[in-house]
Amino acid sequence: MPNARFDDRCRELLTTLEETRQKKRFLHVAGPMGPTVFVRGVGEVIVLCSNNYLGLADHPEVIRAGIEGLERYGAGTASVRFICGSLVCHRELEETIAWFVGTENSLSYVSCWNANEAVFPTLCGPDDVILSDELNHASIIDSCRLAGRITPRSVYKHSDLDDLERQLKEHVDNECRWVVTDGVFSMEGDVCRLPELIDLCRRYEAMLVVDDSHGVGVLGSGGRGTPEHFGCFGDIDILTGTLGKALGGAAGGYVAASRHVIEVLEQRARPSLFSNALPATVACSARRAIEIAGSEPQRVAKLHENVRIIRDGLTRLGFDCHPSPTAIIPIMIGDEADAIAKSNRLLELGVMVIGFGYPVVPKGQARLRVQVSAALEREHLERALDAFAKL
Ligand SMILES: Cc1ncc(COP(=O)(O)O)c(C=O)c1O
Repeated sequence: MPNARFDDRCRELLTTLEETRQKKRFLHVAGPMGPTVFVRGVGEVIVLCSNNYLGLADHPEVIRAGIEGLERYGAGTASVRFICGSLVCHRELEETIAWFVGTENSLSYVSCWNANEAVFPTLCGPDDVILSDELNHASIIDSCRLAGRITPRSVYKHSDLDDLERQLKEHVDNECRWVVTDGVFSMEGDVCRLPELIDLCRRYEAMLVVDDSHGVGVLGSGGRGTPEHFGCFGDIDILTGTLGKALGGAAGGYVAASRHVIEVLEQRARPSLFSNALPATVACSARRAIEIAGSEPQRVAKLHENVRIIRDGLTRLGFDCHPSPTAIIPIMIGDEADAIAKSNRLLELGVMVIGFGYPVVPKGQARLRVQVSAALEREHLERALDAFAKL
């Protein structure tokens, strides 16, 4: 029997979103992610909103590896790993991730959301404290909230290391201090101040956790992420990241850390103890994507060149693009309905760029988020810039 009050609540929210022109539009794409996609009801458009940074989502070898994985292992073990075991492809994937990001070991999850959710509630104790950047990804925020039932937490101002140091001093008597940051901030496109964070964490004996979902595959000449960009391999205690962006683009996430951190997660983390592992097909295709990323640095070089072209082009057109080495270029609009309208107009002009509003970004800070890929050729970049000129 439906509850009428709940029904009204849903209807009210949806009507308000519709009337204020803030309702998100969900597009249907008929085919693999590439430099262009065919959107049902719209036609062929250039993609400037995917995290397919290295253009590996439709790579024939990535697709083939997934098919072979499915044929060899079937869909999965129909259980969690401690009951029916891990598939060999999971271990191979985890060794490949650890090799690529420069850690002793890694553990895969069905998403980076799950990986982040595993970290704090599992590893933090009641006498610890978690200090989190105010612009961290929602999955980090939720993980801290979950851990917050046991472990105190506090937010420091975005990339403000004076504020962070003040809080580290304040909690100097806690058993363990945890500092967590995005490597590349997903809505701003800026990079965390990694060398200074490492220095602060060393001085205050704090554990540093970096979510490099938008850094891995993008930053550094080898695409090995924020640690490579700053030459800080081995100086981060725990790295997390996604396989659903540059590294294949399907799904999956990982925690990469020392052998004993991974072992504690295997023993105690709820998202892997109570939930199935990544499907075999995804484990195999992601592993192949990482191998390609590792052996073809020219893809990373092309991505960097494409970023330069788009960033320079947008700046020439008068858009305010902050300098940054990342592939995320936010264009601030402010009003959410306006951001959505501009995104719709760009789609009509043949370019897919999404307008982001609440709750993804704070109210009044709506923006268009441009994202660049190595899959884009010169003609795509020029056509996209033409569309922005018309906008
Ligand atoms: C910084 C960051 N962390 C985690 C995630 C979640 O990744 P996944 O899609 O693998 O759950 C995202 C995805 O948007 C992200 O941007």
